[in-house]
Amino acid sequence: MSTRKSLLVIGGCGYIGSHMVSCLIDAGHQVTVLDDLSTGFSDSLLGGELIVGNFGCRETLDAIFSKSKYDGVLHFASLIQVGESVAQPATYYQNNVANTLTLLSAMVDHKVGPLVFSSTAAVFGEPSYVPIDEVHPRQPMNPYGMSKYMVEAMLQDFDSAYGLRSVSLRYFNAAGADPQGRIGERHNPETHLIPLALRALLDESSNFKVFGDDYDTPDGTCIRDYVHVADLAEAHLCALNYLWQGGATSAFNLGSGSGFSVREILDTIRTVVGKPVRVETVSRRAGDPARLVADSALAMTQLGWTPKYSSLETIVRHAWQWEQVRHRK
Ligand code: UFG
Repeated sequence: MSTRKSLLVIGGCGYIGSHMVSCLIDAGHQVTVLDDLSTGFSDSLLGGELIVGNFGCRETLDAIFSKSKYDGVLHFASLIQVGESVAQPATYYQNNVANTLTLLSAMVDHKVGPLVFSSTAAVFGEPSYVPIDEVHPRQPMNPYGMSKYMVEAMLQDFDSAYGLRSVSLRYFNAAGADPQGRIGERHNPETHLIPLALRALLDESSNFKVFGDDYDTPDGTCIRDYVHVADLAEAHLCALNYLWQGGATSAFNLGSGSGFSVREILDTIRTVVGKPVRVETVSRRAGDPARLVADSALAMTQLGWTPKYSSLETIVRHAWQWEQVRHRK
């Protein structure tokens, strides 16, 4: 990319957002982050200017868009826990949908665009086939997935009516960490497989719990498509370029195209770290589909996305490097 652009990154202090900020700075862009620090961490920012505030506050957005001109917005700020979304749908629809509506309206009024939006494989619900391509039916099974699906629908309508162009990127299982070990996954509470399995290696008192080994898969554990967080960040850069070149509002699936079971992840961790994770098998977690694998061909052909870190060993090695840093913090 040749020209320096000015970008607003909403939710830039979170896991994927902070890797995005690093990627944008490395690409020579100017970055402003808006984050309310409700789930993110200010020390995850490797550069850029931080504005602490909520993206659902219209006055905050008016002040930001009046003060500076942006060439694009990246929106990572959402609540992401499926179980919590079932228990507290109002919170999820407020944050993920209503606040995003406020953002989109402000962008239209201030003539700001385009937008890259963080969507999810959860928009598909229980898959009717794998790998999942973009035309697969979207039937979300929980308020989290539904909230992302609703925003995708709003984005189509905002393009048709107001000309706000956007790309929705549907992440499968974001994993790994900054290859240089500076930042990584930091959720509170942590619910994801790879960080929890690695933490069981660092904390002798805890076992890693495998949520069910009676699925209809070769080893009975769930299969997922793990995609390196740095590759996800690159995909956003590709999406911005696509939009700056006049690309139409679209959605793309982002994965590696390979599925790995929970047991295969644990085996890879043993190979990378050199010791086995202590595991116990417990009952299934509600709402886990047996198999989720992305077909990312469209992102590769239309956006020109080429994932660099598609080996599972690399993803686990970077995650392990980060977990050791995090453990010492
Ligand atoms: N798992 C365990 N034990 C754990 C944690 C996870 O066995 O302690 C298993 C899960 O049952 C699942 C797999 O590991 O089979 C991966 O689970 P994660 O929680 O790491 O990820 P999910 O596939 O559940 O979730 C991801 C994203 C969500 C998104 C979803 C899309 O993190 O935001 O994909 O379906 F909604």
